[in-house]
Amino acid sequence: MNSLQGKYALITGASQGLGLELAIAFARAGAAGIAIVARNKALLDVARDLIQEVDKQIQVLAIVADVSQAQDIERIVATTLNAFGGHIDILVNNASTIGPEPMPFLLDYPLEDFRNVLNTNLIAPFLLIKKVLPAMIENGGSIINVTSDAGITGYPGWGAYGISKFGLEGLSQTWAAELEESNVRVNWVDPGNMNTAMHRAAEPDEDPTQWANPAYVTSIFVYLASDESKHVNGQRFHAQTEEDEPLSQAA
Ligand SMILES: NC(=O)c1ccc[n+]([C@@H]2O[C@H](COP(=O)([O-])OP(=O)(O)OC[C@H]3O[C@@H](n4cnc5c(N)ncnc54)[C@H](OP(=O)(O)O)[C@@H]3O)[C@@H](O)[C@H]2O)c1
Repeated sequence: MNSLQGKYALITGASQGLGLELAIAFARAGAAGIAIVARNKALLDVARDLIQEVDKQIQVLAIVADVSQAQDIERIVATTLNAFGGHIDILVNNASTIGPEPMPFLLDYPLEDFRNVLNTNLIAPFLLIKKVLPAMIENGGSIINVTSDAGITGYPGWGAYGISKFGLEGLSQTWAAELEESNVRVNWVDPGNMNTAMHRAAEPDEDPTQWANPAYVTSIFVYLASDESKHVNGQRFHAQTEEDEPLSQAA
């Protein structure tokens, strides 16, 4: 119940969708502080209030920032460490973009959009991990990267998004191997198909009610954030039980 008691977490992309549900789940698990990051201030403020409602004692920090910008990453980590007394025990790299909608094939993919997707989905996790590590190595910690089945299979039309997730899987494996001897662990989770703004935008012709409510996929994240998974490093998890998902439902 209180598996995250005393822990401080930083979750990117937590104004809606999976990130918000993770923040609420972490609050319910007794986290001491949760920093949430997104660009849209109005949505982020609503999210902050929802998380705070779980427990008035939790320190909830809402940081308006764009993770695709290196200077914003510096500010996110500095602000969080400052507010949480130098502690970040859990980092969830969740913020992502699917890029232009409708999603173009690679042949038609604009270079600037391609770069922006990689900056948001891949370079940002790389930089955030680099920046939080000095604080984490001192006290131990858990890094959780959010991937997708589009990160292990190249689906037509999922272009830069899928490629960024392939990169994220490699980034996760490499960090995990390099941190093997430390008390920081790096694992990554495919949450499976969820009914969120991102997925509805990616597949507007599909019925979104067939996809999971993101509130129902959080338990593996709470486990990986808690000390129960202290010795788990370099593993890929799937948050839902179904296995062979149809290509049209990739996200
Ligand atoms: N939905 C699915 O079916 C599915 C399946 C597999 C994997 N995933 C993965 O699950 C994670 C969460 O996705 P979701 O479906 O919950 O998405 P979502 O509902 O669209 O939420 C995305 C969040 O990321 C934030 N964000 C996007 N770009 C950002 C940026 N440059 N800087 C800061 N924040 C940014 C958004 O806020 P702002 O726009 O205000 O910045 C929002 O809070 C992603 O990593 C996604 O790839 C999703």
